[in-house]
Amino acid sequence: MGRWWFGGFLIAVALAVAAVNGYPEEDLVVNLPGQPKVGFRQFAGYVDVDEKAGRSLFYYFVEAEKDAETTPLTLWLNGGPGCSSIGGGAFTELGPFYPAGDGRALRRNSMSWNRASNLLFVESPAGVGWSYSNTSSDYTRGDAATAMDMQIFMMKWFEKFPELKSRDLFLTGESYAGHYVPQLADLLLDHNARSTRFKFNIKGIAIGNPLLKLDRDIPAAYEFFWSHGMISDEIGLTIMNECDFDDYTNASPHNVSHSCNDAITEANGIVSNYINQYDVILDVCYPSIVEQELRLRKMATKMSLGVDVCMTLERRFYFNLPDVQKALHANRTNLPYKWSMCSGVLNYNEADGDINILPILKKIIQRRVPVWVFSGDQDSVIPLLSSRTLVRELAHELKFKITVPYGAWFHKGQVAGWATEYGNLLTFATVRGAAHMVPYAQPSRSLHLFSSFVHGRRLPNNTRPSIDD
Ligand SMILES: *[C@@H]1O[C@H](CO)[C@@H](O)[C@H](O)[C@H]1NC(C)=O
Ligand SMILES: *[C@@H]1O[C@H](CO)[C@@H](O)[C@H](O)[C@H]1NC(C)=O
Ligand SMILES: *[C@@H]1O[C@H](CO)[C@@H](O)[C@H](O)[C@H]1NC(C)=O
Ligand SMILES: *[C@@H]1O[C@H](CO)[C@@H](O)[C@H](O)[C@H]1NC(C)=O
Repeated sequence: MGRWWFGGFLIAVALAVAAVNGYPEEDLVVNLPGQPKVGFRQFAGYVDVDEKAGRSLFYYFVEAEKDAETTPLTLWLNGGPGCSSIGGGAFTELGPFYPAGDGRALRRNSMSWNRASNLLFVESPAGVGWSYSNTSSDYTRGDAATAMDMQIFMMKWFEKFPELKSRDLFLTGESYAGHYVPQLADLLLDHNARSTRFKFNIKGIAIGNPLLKLDRDIPAAYEFFWSHGMISDEIGLTIMNECDFDDYTNASPHNVSHSCNDAITEANGIVSNYINQYDVILDVCYPSIVEQELRLRKMATKMSLGVDVCMTLERRFYFNLPDVQKALHANRTNLPYKWSMCSGVLNYNEADGDINILPILKKIIQRRVPVWVFSGDQDSVIPLLSSRTLVRELAHELKFKITVPYGAWFHKGQVAGWATEYGNLLTFATVRGAAHMVPYAQPSRSLHLFSSFVHGRRLPNNTRPSIDD
Protein backbone atom coordinates (compact mmCIF):
# COMPACT_ATOMS: atom_id res chain seq x y z
CA MET A 1 0.00 0.00 0.00
CA GLY A 2 1.19 3.52 -0.61
CA ARG A 3 2.76 4.98 2.51
CA TRP A 4 4.25 8.37 2.19
CA TRP A 5 6.65 8.75 5.04
CA PHE A 6 9.60 7.76 2.83
CA GLY A 7 9.00 10.53 0.30
CA GLY A 8 11.07 10.88 -2.87
CA PHE A 9 11.87 7.78 -4.83
CA LEU A 10 9.63 5.33 -3.07
CA ILE A 11 6.63 7.27 -4.30
CA ALA A 12 7.33 5.85 -7.72
CA VAL A 13 6.99 2.38 -6.22
CA ALA A 14 3.73 3.36 -4.60
CA LEU A 15 2.49 4.63 -7.97
CA ALA A 16 3.14 1.23 -9.46
CA VAL A 17 1.25 -0.38 -6.58
CA ALA A 18 -1.65 1.95 -7.21
CA ALA A 19 -1.83 0.84 -10.81
CA VAL A 20 -1.66 -2.81 -9.81
CA ASN A 21 -4.54 -2.21 -7.44
CA GLY A 22 -6.64 -1.12 -10.36
CA TYR A 23 -6.86 2.46 -9.13
CA PRO A 24 -6.07 5.30 -11.54
CA GLU A 25 -2.42 6.13 -11.19
CA GLU A 26 -2.86 9.53 -12.81
CA ASP A 27 -5.36 10.55 -10.13
CA LEU A 28 -3.11 9.62 -7.20
CA VAL A 29 -2.44 12.67 -5.05
CA VAL A 30 1.17 12.20 -4.11
CA ASN A 31 1.44 14.99 -1.60
CA LEU A 32 -0.54 18.17 -0.98
CA PRO A 33 1.45 21.31 -0.19
CA GLY A 34 2.23 21.43 3.53
CA GLN A 35 0.52 18.14 4.16
CA PRO A 36 1.43 16.02 7.20
CA LYS A 37 2.60 12.52 6.26
CA VAL A 38 -0.14 9.92 6.41
CA GLY A 39 -0.42 6.20 5.81
CA PHE A 40 -3.46 6.21 3.51
CA ARG A 41 -3.78 7.25 -0.12
CA GLN A 42 -5.70 10.12 -1.70
CA PHE A 43 -6.95 10.41 -5.26
CA ALA A 44 -8.44 13.35 -7.09
CA GLY A 45 -9.46 14.09 -10.63
CA TYR A 46 -12.23 14.40 -13.15
CA VAL A 47 -15.00 12.17 -14.43
CA ASP A 48 -16.65 13.38 -17.64
CA VAL A 49 -20.40 13.00 -17.34
CA ASP A 50 -21.16 14.41 -20.81
CA GLU A 51 -18.30 14.43 -23.27
CA LYS A 52 -20.22 16.22 -26.02
CA ALA A 53 -21.15 19.17 -23.81
CA GLY A 54 -17.76 18.97 -22.09
CA ARG A 55 -19.28 18.52 -18.65
CA SER A 56 -17.01 17.06 -16.01
CA LEU A 57 -17.29 16.50 -12.26
CA PHE A 58 -14.33 16.75 -9.93
CA TYR A 59 -13.87 14.27 -7.07
CA TYR A 60 -11.58 13.75 -4.11
CA PHE A 61 -11.26 10.24 -2.67
CA VAL A 62 -9.49 9.31 0.55
CA GLU A 63 -8.88 5.77 1.59
CA ALA A 64 -9.79 4.64 5.06
CA GLU A 65 -7.01 4.94 7.61
CA LYS A 66 -7.10 1.18 8.24
CA ASP A 67 -8.38 -1.82 6.28
CA ALA A 68 -9.21 0.27 3.22
CA GLU A 69 -9.68 -3.00 1.26
CA THR A 70 -12.64 -4.04 3.37
CA THR A 71 -14.21 -0.92 4.90
CA PRO A 72 -17.26 0.62 3.23
CA LEU A 73 -17.37 3.44 0.72
CA THR A 74 -19.15 6.65 1.74
CA LEU A 75 -20.15 9.41 -0.64
CA TRP A 76 -20.44 12.86 0.95
CA LEU A 77 -22.18 15.84 -0.65
CA ASN A 78 -22.43 19.39 0.62
CA GLY A 79 -25.47 21.48 -0.21
CA GLY A 80 -26.00 25.07 -1.17
CA PRO A 81 -27.23 24.42 -3.77
CA GLY A 82 -23.90 25.20 -5.36
CA CYS A 83 -21.43 24.66 -2.51
CA SER A 84 -18.29 22.59 -2.58
CA SER A 85 -18.14 19.13 -0.99
CA ILE A 86 -14.36 19.24 -1.11
CA GLY A 87 -14.01 22.67 0.44
CA GLY A 88 -16.75 21.92 2.96
CA GLY A 89 -16.95 18.23 3.83
CA ALA A 90 -13.44 17.17 2.93
CA PHE A 91 -11.33 20.06 4.24
CA THR A 92 -13.29 21.68 7.08
CA GLU A 93 -15.60 18.97 8.37
CA LEU A 94 -14.99 15.23 8.14
CA GLY A 95 -11.94 14.70 5.97
CA PRO A 96 -8.43 13.90 7.20
CA PHE A 97 -7.04 17.44 6.88
CA TYR A 98 -7.99 20.93 7.95
CA PRO A 99 -6.26 24.06 6.64
CA ALA A 100 -3.43 25.30 8.83
CA GLY A 101 -3.80 28.76 10.35
CA ASP A 102 -1.56 30.40 7.75
CA GLY A 103 -3.61 29.09 4.81
CA ARG A 104 -0.47 27.63 3.25
CA ALA A 105 -0.45 24.15 4.74
CA LEU A 106 -2.64 21.44 6.27
CA ARG A 107 -3.05 19.89 9.68
CA ARG A 108 -4.53 16.52 10.61
CA ASN A 109 -8.14 16.11 11.69
CA SER A 110 -7.70 13.22 14.10
CA MET A 111 -11.47 12.62 14.09
CA SER A 112 -11.72 12.17 10.33
CA TRP A 113 -14.50 9.90 9.16
CA ASN A 114 -11.91 7.95 7.18
CA ARG A 115 -11.27 6.17 10.47
CA ALA A 116 -14.51 4.31 9.70
CA SER A 117 -14.88 4.36 5.91
CA ASN A 118 -13.35 5.20 2.57
CA LEU A 119 -14.59 8.67 1.67
CA LEU A 120 -15.63 10.09 -1.69
CA PHE A 121 -16.38 13.81 -2.11
CA VAL A 122 -17.83 15.19 -5.35
CA GLU A 123 -18.31 18.75 -6.59
CA SER A 124 -21.89 18.64 -7.81
CA PRO A 125 -23.43 19.91 -10.01
CA ALA A 126 -21.06 21.20 -12.73
CA GLY A 127 -20.19 24.82 -11.93
CA VAL A 128 -19.40 24.02 -8.28
CA GLY A 129 -15.79 24.19 -7.15
CA TRP A 130 -13.62 22.58 -9.83
CA SER A 131 -16.47 20.84 -11.64
CA TYR A 132 -17.26 22.59 -14.90
CA SER A 133 -18.90 22.46 -18.25
CA ASN A 134 -17.68 23.76 -21.60
CA THR A 135 -21.33 24.53 -22.41
CA SER A 136 -22.35 27.53 -20.35
CA SER A 137 -26.08 26.72 -20.51
CA ASP A 138 -25.25 23.65 -18.36
CA TYR A 139 -24.88 26.04 -15.43
CA THR A 140 -28.63 26.49 -15.45
CA ARG A 141 -29.50 23.44 -13.43
CA GLY A 142 -31.89 21.87 -10.96
CA ASP A 143 -32.42 18.82 -8.79
CA ALA A 144 -33.32 16.31 -11.52
CA ALA A 145 -30.32 17.03 -13.76
CA THR A 146 -28.02 17.14 -10.72
CA ALA A 147 -29.11 13.68 -9.62
CA MET A 148 -28.81 12.29 -13.17
CA ASP A 149 -25.26 13.61 -13.53
CA MET A 150 -24.36 12.08 -10.18
CA GLN A 151 -25.72 8.72 -11.29
CA ILE A 152 -23.56 8.86 -14.41
CA PHE A 153 -20.66 9.98 -12.25
CA MET A 154 -21.04 7.00 -9.91
CA MET A 155 -21.14 4.51 -12.82
CA LYS A 156 -18.05 6.02 -14.42
CA TRP A 157 -16.18 6.51 -11.16
CA PHE A 158 -16.57 2.80 -10.46
CA GLU A 159 -14.85 2.15 -13.80
CA LYS A 160 -11.85 3.99 -12.34
CA PHE A 161 -12.14 2.15 -9.03
CA PRO A 162 -13.57 -1.25 -9.98
CA GLU A 163 -12.60 -2.86 -6.68
CA LEU A 164 -15.07 -0.62 -4.89
CA LYS A 165 -18.06 -1.53 -7.07
CA SER A 166 -19.35 -4.21 -4.74
CA ARG A 167 -18.33 -2.50 -1.52
CA ASP A 168 -21.02 -1.48 0.98
CA LEU A 169 -22.07 1.99 -0.15
CA PHE A 170 -23.38 4.78 2.07
CA LEU A 171 -24.72 8.07 0.75
CA THR A 172 -24.36 11.06 3.06
CA GLY A 173 -24.45 14.83 3.05
CA GLU A 174 -25.85 17.90 4.71
CA SER A 175 -28.13 20.87 4.18
CA TYR A 176 -29.35 21.05 0.57
CA ALA A 177 -27.93 17.53 0.20
CA GLY A 178 -31.21 16.70 1.96
CA HIS A 179 -32.39 16.98 -1.66
CA TYR A 180 -29.33 15.59 -3.43
CA VAL A 181 -28.81 12.43 -1.38
CA PRO A 182 -32.38 11.03 -1.34
CA GLN A 183 -32.87 11.95 -5.03
CA LEU A 184 -29.64 10.18 -5.97
CA ALA A 185 -30.44 7.17 -3.78
CA ASP A 186 -33.82 6.94 -5.49
CA LEU A 187 -32.21 6.89 -8.95
CA LEU A 188 -29.63 4.30 -7.92
CA LEU A 189 -32.29 2.08 -6.35
CA ASP A 190 -34.40 2.40 -9.51
CA HIS A 191 -31.35 1.32 -11.47
CA ASN A 192 -30.94 -1.68 -9.15
CA ALA A 193 -34.58 -2.67 -9.66
CA ARG A 194 -34.10 -2.69 -13.46
CA SER A 195 -30.57 -3.99 -13.75
CA THR A 196 -29.82 -7.67 -14.14
CA ARG A 197 -26.10 -6.95 -13.92
CA PHE A 198 -24.39 -4.32 -11.81
CA LYS A 199 -26.25 -3.06 -8.73
CA PHE A 200 -25.25 -0.30 -6.32
CA ASN A 201 -24.70 -1.90 -2.94
CA ILE A 202 -26.52 0.83 -0.98
CA LYS A 203 -26.58 0.09 2.74
CA GLY A 204 -27.84 3.35 4.16
CA ILE A 205 -28.23 7.07 3.80
CA ALA A 206 -27.51 9.76 6.37
CA ILE A 207 -28.32 13.45 6.04
CA GLY A 208 -27.36 16.23 8.46
CA ASN A 209 -29.48 19.36 9.04
CA PRO A 210 -31.19 18.54 5.75
CA LEU A 211 -33.61 20.68 3.81
CA LEU A 212 -36.61 18.37 3.52
CA LYS A 213 -39.85 20.33 3.46
CA LEU A 214 -40.17 24.12 3.49
CA ASP A 215 -43.46 24.38 5.35
CA ARG A 216 -41.66 23.01 8.41
CA ASP A 217 -38.04 23.95 7.82
CA ILE A 218 -38.71 27.68 7.32
CA PRO A 219 -40.89 28.38 10.41
CA ALA A 220 -38.46 26.32 12.49
CA ALA A 221 -35.69 28.80 11.71
CA TYR A 222 -37.76 31.67 13.16
CA GLU A 223 -38.80 29.56 16.13
CA PHE A 224 -35.13 28.86 16.78
CA PHE A 225 -34.28 32.59 16.60
CA TRP A 226 -37.10 33.28 19.04
CA SER A 227 -36.19 30.49 21.49
CA HIS A 228 -32.57 31.62 21.52
CA GLY A 229 -33.36 35.27 22.26
CA MET A 230 -32.19 36.36 18.83
CA ILE A 231 -35.45 38.21 18.06
CA SER A 232 -37.99 39.94 20.28
CA ASP A 233 -41.09 38.30 21.66
CA GLU A 234 -43.18 40.76 19.63
CA ILE A 235 -41.67 39.74 16.31
CA GLY A 236 -41.61 36.06 17.24
CA LEU A 237 -45.34 36.19 18.02
CA THR A 238 -46.10 38.20 14.88
CA ILE A 239 -44.39 35.57 12.74
CA MET A 240 -46.21 32.74 14.47
CA ASN A 241 -49.58 34.52 14.12
CA GLU A 242 -49.27 36.18 10.72
CA CYS A 243 -47.31 33.68 8.67
CA ASP A 244 -48.88 30.77 6.88
CA PHE A 245 -45.92 28.73 5.75
CA ASP A 246 -48.01 26.10 3.93
CA ASP A 247 -47.55 27.84 0.59
CA TYR A 248 -44.16 29.43 1.31
CA THR A 249 -41.95 29.31 -1.77
CA ASN A 250 -38.18 29.10 -1.77
CA ALA A 251 -37.91 31.72 -4.48
CA SER A 252 -38.36 35.30 -3.36
CA PRO A 253 -40.96 36.83 -2.86
CA HIS A 254 -41.91 33.87 -0.72
CA ASN A 255 -45.66 33.90 -1.37
CA VAL A 256 -46.53 35.05 2.14
CA SER A 257 -48.74 37.94 3.28
CA HIS A 258 -47.35 41.48 3.53
CA SER A 259 -47.46 41.48 7.30
CA CYS A 260 -45.63 38.15 7.41
CA ASN A 261 -43.05 39.33 4.93
CA ASP A 262 -42.44 42.48 6.98
CA ALA A 263 -41.99 40.45 10.16
CA ILE A 264 -39.55 37.95 8.68
CA THR A 265 -37.57 40.77 7.04
CA GLU A 266 -37.37 42.54 10.38
CA ALA A 267 -36.34 39.33 12.14
CA ASN A 268 -33.55 38.68 9.66
CA GLY A 269 -32.31 42.24 10.18
CA ILE A 270 -32.19 41.94 13.97
CA VAL A 271 -30.36 38.61 13.86
CA SER A 272 -27.70 40.45 11.81
CA ASN A 273 -24.52 39.35 10.14
CA TYR A 274 -22.59 39.41 13.39
CA ILE A 275 -23.93 36.01 14.34
CA ASN A 276 -23.03 32.78 12.60
CA GLN A 277 -26.49 31.47 11.79
CA TYR A 278 -25.02 28.02 11.14
CA ASP A 279 -23.84 27.86 14.75
CA VAL A 280 -25.37 30.53 16.93
CA ILE A 281 -23.01 29.81 19.85
CA LEU A 282 -19.71 30.29 18.01
CA ASP A 283 -18.04 33.68 17.62
CA VAL A 284 -17.69 35.10 14.12
CA CYS A 285 -14.57 35.63 12.06
CA TYR A 286 -13.81 39.01 10.43
CA PRO A 287 -12.83 38.35 6.80
CA SER A 288 -11.00 41.65 6.25
CA ILE A 289 -8.71 41.01 9.23
CA VAL A 290 -8.02 37.43 8.16
CA GLU A 291 -7.24 38.36 4.56
CA GLN A 292 -4.67 40.85 5.80
CA GLU A 293 -3.11 38.30 8.17
CA LEU A 294 -2.88 35.66 5.46
CA ARG A 295 -1.18 38.07 3.07
CA LEU A 296 1.34 38.88 5.80
CA ARG A 297 1.94 35.15 6.41
CA LYS A 298 0.51 35.39 9.93
CA MET A 299 -1.66 32.78 11.61
CA ALA A 300 -5.32 33.67 11.10
CA THR A 301 -6.63 31.10 13.60
CA LYS A 302 -9.35 32.42 15.95
CA MET A 303 -10.51 29.88 18.50
CA SER A 304 -14.07 29.90 19.83
CA LEU A 305 -15.18 26.94 21.96
CA GLY A 306 -12.36 24.81 20.60
CA VAL A 307 -13.16 25.61 16.95
CA ASP A 308 -11.09 27.73 14.56
CA VAL A 309 -13.88 30.01 13.31
CA CYS A 310 -11.65 31.45 10.55
CA MET A 311 -11.00 28.04 9.00
CA THR A 312 -13.16 28.72 5.94
CA LEU A 313 -11.03 31.72 4.98
CA GLU A 314 -7.78 29.81 5.50
CA ARG A 315 -9.22 27.13 3.22
CA ARG A 316 -10.16 29.63 0.53
CA PHE A 317 -6.61 30.96 0.55
CA TYR A 318 -5.16 27.43 0.39
CA PHE A 319 -7.43 26.24 -2.44
CA ASN A 320 -6.49 29.25 -4.57
CA LEU A 321 -2.78 28.43 -4.42
CA PRO A 322 -1.70 27.19 -7.88
CA ASP A 323 0.45 24.43 -6.31
CA VAL A 324 -2.52 23.08 -4.40
CA GLN A 325 -4.65 22.96 -7.55
CA LYS A 326 -1.83 21.21 -9.38
CA ALA A 327 -1.33 18.63 -6.64
CA LEU A 328 -5.07 17.90 -6.69
CA HIS A 329 -5.19 17.66 -10.52
CA ALA A 330 -7.88 20.33 -10.25
CA ASN A 331 -8.79 23.22 -12.56
CA ARG A 332 -7.40 21.41 -15.62
CA THR A 333 -9.12 23.84 -18.01
CA ASN A 334 -7.92 27.02 -16.22
CA LEU A 335 -11.34 28.25 -15.20
CA PRO A 336 -11.76 32.01 -15.61
CA TYR A 337 -12.73 32.59 -11.96
CA LYS A 338 -11.29 31.91 -8.52
CA TRP A 339 -12.16 28.93 -6.36
CA SER A 340 -14.94 29.74 -3.93
CA MET A 341 -16.89 27.65 -1.44
CA CYS A 342 -20.20 28.37 -3.16
CA SER A 343 -20.50 28.80 -6.89
CA GLY A 344 -20.74 32.18 -8.55
CA VAL A 345 -21.52 30.74 -11.98
CA LEU A 346 -24.30 28.29 -11.19
CA ASN A 347 -27.85 29.38 -11.87
CA TYR A 348 -29.75 26.82 -9.81
CA ASN A 349 -33.50 26.46 -10.10
CA GLU A 350 -34.75 27.96 -6.85
CA ALA A 351 -38.21 26.45 -7.27
CA ASP A 352 -36.70 22.99 -6.68
CA GLY A 353 -36.25 24.04 -3.07
CA ASP A 354 -40.02 23.62 -2.80
CA ILE A 355 -39.85 19.88 -3.51
CA ASN A 356 -41.09 17.78 -0.61
CA ILE A 357 -38.44 15.12 0.06
CA LEU A 358 -40.47 12.97 2.46
CA PRO A 359 -42.15 10.82 -0.24
CA ILE A 360 -38.69 10.02 -1.63
CA LEU A 361 -37.39 9.05 1.81
CA LYS A 362 -40.48 6.91 2.24
CA LYS A 363 -39.72 5.01 -0.99
CA ILE A 364 -36.12 4.50 0.10
CA ILE A 365 -37.13 3.13 3.48
CA GLN A 366 -39.76 0.90 1.90
CA ARG A 367 -36.88 -0.64 -0.03
CA ARG A 368 -35.39 -1.51 3.36
CA VAL A 369 -32.54 1.02 3.21
CA PRO A 370 -31.86 2.53 6.66
CA VAL A 371 -32.14 6.32 6.87
CA TRP A 372 -30.49 8.50 9.51
CA VAL A 373 -31.35 12.16 9.92
CA PHE A 374 -28.94 13.92 12.25
CA SER A 375 -28.94 17.49 13.43
CA GLY A 376 -26.40 19.86 14.96
CA ASP A 377 -28.44 21.54 17.69
CA GLN A 378 -26.81 24.98 17.42
CA ASP A 379 -27.92 25.49 13.83
CA SER A 380 -30.65 28.05 13.16
CA VAL A 381 -30.70 27.60 9.38
CA ILE A 382 -32.27 24.13 9.31
CA PRO A 383 -32.73 23.49 13.00
CA LEU A 384 -33.45 20.26 14.80
CA LEU A 385 -37.01 21.44 15.45
CA SER A 386 -38.20 20.81 11.91
CA SER A 387 -36.06 17.74 11.22
CA ARG A 388 -37.32 16.01 14.36
CA THR A 389 -40.95 16.72 13.46
CA LEU A 390 -40.52 15.68 9.83
CA VAL A 391 -38.92 12.39 10.85
CA ARG A 392 -41.79 11.68 13.21
CA GLU A 393 -44.32 12.50 10.48
CA LEU A 394 -42.47 10.22 8.08
CA ALA A 395 -42.53 7.41 10.65
CA HIS A 396 -46.27 7.96 10.98
CA GLU A 397 -46.69 7.76 7.18
CA LEU A 398 -44.80 4.46 7.21
CA LYS A 399 -46.89 3.23 10.16
CA PHE A 400 -43.64 2.66 12.05
CA LYS A 401 -43.55 2.12 15.79
CA ILE A 402 -40.92 3.68 18.02
CA THR A 403 -38.11 1.14 18.31
CA VAL A 404 -35.81 3.32 20.42
CA PRO A 405 -37.58 5.82 22.68
CA TYR A 406 -36.36 9.42 22.51
CA GLY A 407 -33.46 9.79 24.92
CA ALA A 408 -29.89 10.88 25.38
CA TRP A 409 -27.00 9.19 23.60
CA PHE A 410 -23.52 9.24 25.03
CA HIS A 411 -19.94 9.76 23.99
CA LYS A 412 -16.96 9.89 26.35
CA GLY A 413 -19.21 9.88 29.39
CA GLN A 414 -21.24 12.90 28.31
CA VAL A 415 -24.53 13.44 26.53
CA ALA A 416 -23.59 13.72 22.86
CA GLY A 417 -27.16 14.43 21.78
CA TRP A 418 -30.62 12.89 21.80
CA ALA A 419 -31.91 10.18 19.54
CA THR A 420 -34.91 8.08 18.61
CA GLU A 421 -35.55 5.29 16.14
CA TYR A 422 -38.66 4.16 14.28
CA GLY A 423 -39.40 0.79 12.70
CA ASN A 424 -35.78 -0.34 13.12
CA LEU A 425 -34.96 1.65 9.96
CA LEU A 426 -35.42 5.35 10.61
CA THR A 427 -33.18 7.17 13.09
CA PHE A 428 -33.23 10.77 14.22
CA ALA A 429 -30.31 12.02 16.32
CA THR A 430 -29.16 15.41 17.46
CA VAL A 431 -25.51 16.23 18.06
CA ARG A 432 -25.13 18.44 21.11
CA GLY A 433 -23.06 21.56 20.55
CA ALA A 434 -22.80 20.98 16.81
CA ALA A 435 -23.20 23.40 13.94
CA HIS A 436 -25.15 23.05 10.70
CA MET A 437 -21.86 21.53 9.56
CA VAL A 438 -22.03 18.88 12.29
CA PRO A 439 -18.45 17.53 12.17
CA TYR A 440 -16.98 21.07 12.13
CA ALA A 441 -17.88 22.00 15.71
CA GLN A 442 -18.13 18.46 17.15
CA PRO A 443 -15.60 16.23 15.38
CA SER A 444 -15.46 13.53 18.04
CA ARG A 445 -19.20 13.16 18.61
CA SER A 446 -19.86 13.25 14.89
CA LEU A 447 -17.31 10.50 14.22
CA HIS A 448 -19.01 8.35 16.85
CA LEU A 449 -22.36 8.96 15.17
CA PHE A 450 -20.97 8.18 11.73
CA SER A 451 -19.19 5.00 12.74
CA SER A 452 -22.34 3.75 14.49
CA PHE A 453 -24.26 4.46 11.29
CA VAL A 454 -21.87 2.61 8.95
CA HIS A 455 -21.57 -0.32 11.33
CA GLY A 456 -25.36 -0.61 11.60
CA ARG A 457 -25.20 -0.01 15.35
CA ARG A 458 -27.48 2.05 17.54
CA LEU A 459 -26.12 5.00 19.46
CA PRO A 460 -25.27 4.10 23.07
CA ASN A 461 -28.12 5.15 25.36
CA ASN A 462 -26.21 4.76 28.62
CA THR A 463 -22.77 5.37 30.02
CA ARG A 464 -20.48 4.49 32.90
CA PRO A 465 -20.00 5.43 35.64
CA SER A 466 -23.53 6.00 36.84
CA ILE A 467 -24.36 9.56 37.92
CA ASP A 468 -26.17 8.23 41.01
CA ASP A 469 -24.36 7.70 44.34
C1 LIG B 1 -13.52 21.32 -22.68
O1 LIG B 1 -12.72 22.29 -23.32
C2 LIG B 1 -11.31 22.10 -23.13
C3 LIG B 1 -10.59 23.29 -23.71
O2 LIG B 1 -11.15 23.69 -24.91
C4 LIG B 1 -10.89 20.80 -23.73
O3 LIG B 1 -9.51 20.57 -23.49
C5 LIG B 1 -11.70 19.66 -23.10
O4 LIG B 1 -11.40 18.42 -23.69
C6 LIG B 1 -13.20 19.95 -23.24
N1 LIG B 1 -14.00 18.87 -22.63
C7 LIG B 1 -13.96 18.58 -21.33
C8 LIG B 1 -14.84 17.47 -20.86
O5 LIG B 1 -13.23 19.15 -20.55
C1 LIG C 1 -49.26 31.01 -3.02
O1 LIG C 1 -50.18 30.89 -1.96
C2 LIG C 1 -51.51 30.68 -2.34
C3 LIG C 1 -52.36 30.62 -1.09
O2 LIG C 1 -51.94 31.52 -0.11
C4 LIG C 1 -51.64 29.40 -3.13
O3 LIG C 1 -52.98 29.24 -3.57
C5 LIG C 1 -50.70 29.44 -4.32
O4 LIG C 1 -50.71 28.17 -4.96
C6 LIG C 1 -49.28 29.74 -3.87
N1 LIG C 1 -48.41 29.91 -5.00
C7 LIG C 1 -47.33 29.15 -5.19
C8 LIG C 1 -46.51 29.48 -6.39
O5 LIG C 1 -47.03 28.25 -4.45
C1 LIG D 1 -7.98 28.18 -12.34
O1 LIG D 1 -6.70 28.53 -12.80
C2 LIG D 1 -6.55 29.89 -13.21
C3 LIG D 1 -5.11 30.11 -13.66
O2 LIG D 1 -4.77 29.21 -14.62
C4 LIG D 1 -6.83 30.79 -12.05
O3 LIG D 1 -6.75 32.15 -12.47
C5 LIG D 1 -8.23 30.52 -11.51
O4 LIG D 1 -8.45 31.30 -10.34
C6 LIG D 1 -8.40 29.05 -11.17
N1 LIG D 1 -9.81 28.80 -10.87
C7 LIG D 1 -10.23 27.92 -9.94
C8 LIG D 1 -11.71 27.76 -9.79
O5 LIG D 1 -9.49 27.24 -9.28
C1 LIG E 1 -31.56 1.57 25.55
O1 LIG E 1 -31.48 0.80 24.38
C2 LIG E 1 -31.85 -0.54 24.56
C3 LIG E 1 -31.57 -1.28 23.28
O2 LIG E 1 -32.07 -0.61 22.18
C4 LIG E 1 -33.32 -0.60 24.96
O3 LIG E 1 -33.71 -1.92 25.19
C5 LIG E 1 -33.52 0.21 26.24
O4 LIG E 1 -34.89 0.28 26.55
C6 LIG E 1 -33.00 1.61 26.06
N1 LIG E 1 -33.04 2.33 27.33
C7 LIG E 1 -33.56 3.55 27.45
C8 LIG E 1 -33.49 4.17 28.80
O5 LIG E 1 -34.05 4.16 26.51
